[in-house]
Amino acid sequence: NHPFQINSKGHLEIGGMDATLLAEKHGTPLYVYDVSIIRENCKSFLQSFKDLDVQAQVAYASKAFSSVAMLQVIKQENLSLDVVSQGELHTALKAGFPTERIHVHGNNKSYDELLLAVENNVGCIVVDNFHEINLIETILQNNNYEINVLIRVTPGVESNTHQYIMTGNEDSKFGFSLQNGQAEEAFLQMHKHNQIHVKGLHCHIGSQIFETDRFMKTIDLLFETITNWKESYQYIPDVLNVGGGFGIRYTNEDNPLEARDYVQAITNAISGHASRLGIPMPEIWIEPGRSIVGNAGITLYTIGSMKHIPEIRTYISVDGGMTDNLRPALYQAKYEGVIANKANEEIITEGSIAGKCCESGDMLIWDLPIPEVEPGDTLAVFSTGAYGYSMANHYNRFPNPAVVFVENGVDKLVVKRETYQDLSKNDLSYE
Ligand code: LLP
Repeated sequence: NHPFQINSKGHLEIGGMDATLLAEKHGTPLYVYDVSIIRENCKSFLQSFKDLDVQAQVAYASKAFSSVAMLQVIKQENLSLDVVSQGELHTALKAGFPTERIHVHGNNKSYDELLLAVENNVGCIVVDNFHEINLIETILQNNNYEINVLIRVTPGVESNTHQYIMTGNEDSKFGFSLQNGQAEEAFLQMHKHNQIHVKGLHCHIGSQIFETDRFMKTIDLLFETITNWKESYQYIPDVLNVGGGFGIRYTNEDNPLEARDYVQAITNAISGHASRLGIPMPEIWIEPGRSIVGNAGITLYTIGSMKHIPEIRTYISVDGGMTDNLRPALYQAKYEGVIANKANEEIITEGSIAGKCCESGDMLIWDLPIPEVEPGDTLAVFSTGAYGYSMANHYNRFPNPAVVFVENGVDKLVVKRETYQDLSKNDLSYE
């Protein structure tokens, strides 16, 4: 059910390469991306808008996985880019990403972050709160920079997803509330400033969303506001950004829609409202992260120790864990995997995949159906391309794994494995 093949040796292949050879060559744990899948995912969003003949920007949410090579692929595919920190912006600049296609996010942007964004002439700043408006006004004093902004609003919609990744509900740290007048107050403050151009509204209702209803509901609420602002201030937005959050398949329990289903539903809803209101169709911007990279990535691990507890379970430990994939520990996220060097062998039992960290919750997969396994086998965990490397951490002082891109049967190291030297490079002596 995952977009990978098995070769004549019975080994898993990714991007036309034998996964076990990649593990031998680059070591494990190893993040491997099939770049052709990233490109297909980008194209399917862009093409869906093209087919409907609407002006759109598809901004890759780089928090899902940011590295110079990744952003170069995104640039080649003509997507725009969502960055949410100075680090992500720095990586975008280093990758030579066209700044006019960069959208800058964050619920607590610093003066320095905003200044870097303004000085680099980014496409837009997605303004989140009043403190930020004041910082922007300070930056604009005494110079003639002009900036485009979107106003991030919280529409008061609960998405049907894990509480930690819900963002559109009223009780959220993000954005200006539509319900209590704060969005309007922010709009008025910026609208009257002649160096700030309010291009439109932004909202993001959450992640790993499998249906279109919440997007429809959100668009209805956005248009209530647009209707008011048109009547009161003759304001018509050029852009509506409805965020990301399009779900992907991690396991059989997940049934995501296609990119075009989300795009069609969003476009229909916006064009219906725009024509009822008698305003030109705004540009539609979206911000997919997970749905661009999630299913393009797998993680390879080497199996080490095993502990069989009769009638309870077998723990199979691998050489990575919550340091390279925090999602199971953080969200109880579920994954599927195969033994890459035994991909065709008969499934005879179940094993629970444990990480190497000193933490009982460091479990990557519970009760994975497996053939007979032994130390030295290679485990491949699927759909780890989003929020794996980007949320990697150094708990227990594990170095972050390397990242390899594979395309047309050629592998290329794009992020080096960290060394122990790297881990202690900022440590200073105290003796
Ligand atoms: N736009 C905004 C404003 C966002 O906050 C996010 C995700 C996205 C776009 C992209 O959402 P996506 O298409 O990737 O679902 N670390 C978590 C998810 C938190 C995402 C936060 N914002 C995870 O591992 O599932």
